[in-house]
Amino acid sequence: MVSDRAPDREGDAARRDPLKRHLASVIANYRAEFGGGGDEAVRRDLAELLGVGGASPAVPPEPGIHESAEEVLAHFPKVVARCKKMVDLFRLVLKVAPTDATVLIQGESGTGKELIARSIHDLSHRRQGPYVAENCAALPETLLESELFGHSKGAFTGADRTTKGRFQMANRGTLFLDEVGDMSPGLQKKLLRALQEGELRPVGSSSPIKIDVRFLSASNKDLVDLTRKGLFREDLYYRLSPIRIELPPLRERGDDLLLLLDRITVDAARKCNRPEPPKLAPETLAAMGRYRWPGNVRELQNEVQRMIALADPGRPIEPRDLSPEIRAAGGA
Ligand SMILES: Nc1ncnc2c1ncn2[C@@H]1O[C@H](COP(=O)(O)OP(=O)(O)OP(=O)(O)O)[C@@H](O)[C@H]1O
Ligand SMILES: [Mg+2]
Repeated sequence: MVSDRAPDREGDAARRDPLKRHLASVIANYRAEFGGGGDEAVRRDLAELLGVGGASPAVPPEPGIHESAEEVLAHFPKVVARCKKMVDLFRLVLKVAPTDATVLIQGESGTGKELIARSIHDLSHRRQGPYVAENCAALPETLLESELFGHSKGAFTGADRTTKGRFQMANRGTLFLDEVGDMSPGLQKKLLRALQEGELRPVGSSSPIKIDVRFLSASNKDLVDLTRKGLFREDLYYRLSPIRIELPPLRERGDDLLLLLDRITVDAARKCNRPEPPKLAPETLAAMGRYRWPGNVRELQNEVQRMIALADPGRPIEPRDLSPEIRAAGGA
């Protein structure tokens, strides 16, 4: 009987698998430096180095599970947040980022969906690869199709050369499709096929191309509601949403509003060459705290820019300096 562990089979597997190949070369170097010692000794030393087996501590804890809130936040240097809802969300991101799982990010406009997509890429094993983003609401159907899937020369008038689509550009990296709920039915079908089969057909081409991308998408529309109304394919929704991340609106993040206000004000003052950020009167802060911020962090950024542009230098920002709808929320 031929053993499954025949040496030539193991050799083949090692050649096929880059990690095994790398380990094989580490072991060969180890042997060259420290002499024989036999397989058992090599295995024991490797296990000790990797912290598995024997008396060594068990596998290191997964990030985000045993870490304190401060440690979790440190993984997200570009995202200003501190509230429990965001820390819980970050723990989920830390769990799913290292996997290749497809993630759907939902949340109101301006809540930071794109920022979270980028963080998932940065925390994944694909971080050295490309991160490619496309906004499905920004282009008409035919243009978006060729942007995503590419086209071959002569596919349509003006296609004077073969062009790679976003899927191919994201090869070995991450592709993020924003506003995926705005995709036309025809493109939804094509996207579903590409995700199911791991390959795509550029516009005007008959030969399929294999793709290796981690797929992320986002929408500020409720996709379940769209599927109920027949505007979004249910099968595509399930493909996109093995993992769902829901960003809370700014009004549900408690004191994160003040943290963000502080950071945005400092950044905006620097950009406008103001020597220091403007001070806000207590009534101004109260009005901002009562406002619902339907446009979330983006709306807050716009409001701060407006304040800085319109305020008189040296005078604190009063409620009358705020946009009318925010002033109204403060009862002023
Ligand atoms: N927690 C945060 N900390 C710092 N900046 C943030 C945060 N959330 C959002 N932003 C900033 O607010 C702006 C809007 O964020 P982003 O584009 O990620 O939102 P979005 O949810 O994708 O919005 P839309 O639904 O309109 O596409 C960006 O400039 C982003 O950098
Ligand atoms: Mg966005």
